[in-house]
Amino acid sequence: MQEKIIILDFGSQTTQLIGRRVRELNMYCEIVPYNKFPHGDESVIGVILSGSPFSVYDEKAFKVDLSGIRGKYPLLGICYGAQFMAYSNGGKVEPAGTREYGRANLSTFDAENPLLKGVSANSQVWMSHGDTITAIPDNFKIIASTEKVAVAAYQAVGEKLWGVQFHPEVFHSVDGTQILKNFVVDICGGKQDWSAASFIESTVAQLKEQLGNDKVVLGLSGGVDSSVAAVLLNRAIGKNLTCIFVDHGMLRKNEFKNVLHDYECLGLNVIGVDASAKFFGELAGVTEPERKRKIIGKGFIDVFDAEAHKIEDVKWLAQGTIYPDCIESLSITGTTIKSHHNVGGLPEKMKLKLCEPLRLLFKDEVRNVGRELGMPEHLIKRHPFPGPGLAVRILGDITPEKVSVLQEADDIFIQGLRDWGLYDQVWQAGAILLPVQSVGVMGDERTYERAVALRAVTSTDAMTADWAHLPYEFMAKVSNDIINKVKGVNRVCYDISSKPPATIEWE
Ligand code: XMP
Repeated sequence: MQEKIIILDFGSQTTQLIGRRVRELNMYCEIVPYNKFPHGDESVIGVILSGSPFSVYDEKAFKVDLSGIRGKYPLLGICYGAQFMAYSNGGKVEPAGTREYGRANLSTFDAENPLLKGVSANSQVWMSHGDTITAIPDNFKIIASTEKVAVAAYQAVGEKLWGVQFHPEVFHSVDGTQILKNFVVDICGGKQDWSAASFIESTVAQLKEQLGNDKVVLGLSGGVDSSVAAVLLNRAIGKNLTCIFVDHGMLRKNEFKNVLHDYECLGLNVIGVDASAKFFGELAGVTEPERKRKIIGKGFIDVFDAEAHKIEDVKWLAQGTIYPDCIESLSITGTTIKSHHNVGGLPEKMKLKLCEPLRLLFKDEVRNVGRELGMPEHLIKRHPFPGPGLAVRILGDITPEKVSVLQEADDIFIQGLRDWGLYDQVWQAGAILLPVQSVGVMGDERTYERAVALRAVTSTDAMTADWAHLPYEFMAKVSNDIINKVKGVNRVCYDISSKPPATIEWE
């Protein structure tokens, strides 16, 4: 049985990061909403309580009865998790005078405590909290303090229950990984038996059993997730898997041809469908971003569905859904900023059984599985690319001519990033065709042509992003090449907005 740590999610931005850090220790874990502990699951060996946007004394604060958990499993509360356990046992939590945000140091701590074993003197930790624990319950003891925070960490005396006010999961907590390791390995007794190889072995066996001799279809996008899902399924069921790769006409330059070739080299049974005429037709004259997204989403489903029906007796639809897509969101606002198109509406339309072999993996784990399966590095490290493709990077209406202008500019930018060794340093990059013309001069001629914006961002999960600080020499070269080589473009700008408040894609 695959042993696991349960992470109770109280809605913190860093909950997923806790999960990733635990997985990096080769320990399997699952993130569940704070009130959905899997009672009765015998593979659970320990529990972590996450942070939260709320204060424990807020009316809306997420509260949970830990009586069925405490004493049965080791517990570690992080930030709100720590405050909640202190508060609900008679301790005191109060607003900190000023919100504590950023680096602090553990000025004193109990180096003998099992949670803090191996932590270095004056260790730097990352704080991010508006409240602070001002008194701990009677049977708790303080095991670490910073200059400003007396209760930086505590333990319930004689119990396997700890709380830390800081965030060990955040990179800036230099001994954070050590602390998490102390918890999951030494305290919970985790065997650290989770790896890409073990995942592949057990998943291939499970898929063989689950799918038997059934036929499966899968939509490929060229992206990492669907590609890895396909190769994994191919290993399990070979030719019973048919992959469908739809070209909506708004992919990057040569992308359709190149990616199709990659897929064939990987031994996948893949059908490439050129549906660009249909999409250009339906998109003609449409300028509103959400409308574009909806048209492409629906068009994709129709094409995929028609193609899949040509295969006899298909029983399953496979998708490259990954863990962050599945974690039940405790989203407090619920606003849709953009409707993402991938294969969102497919399962309902096709009435097939759903197979999602990567649904428990984080992105970096998907990449490791891909590597372990022998996939080429350029497929594994490919930047994310939106399902609607260049359609959301052409502001205003879309025409085949605009697509080809943008493809050329984008290609110069992306190839430049590769040539200059910058490609792997950015999360994603691309060019945007702006709906404006401006005056320029070429030779002795006046020009009145289009402007292209370049966007390159650094990020870890696309939830937040910063603009990439690319070298000026590189930008100068790319700008020059684009203006000289791409007919119809006489101006290049660089997008220096972070997310939030801007998004990564312009539409
Ligand atoms: P935004 O623009 O919301 O993008 O900051 C966040 C990430 O999502 C990608 N993106 C999409 N991915 N289908 C996708 O698969 C889509 O419809 C879609 N729209 C945006 C975007 O490229 C970035 O990585």
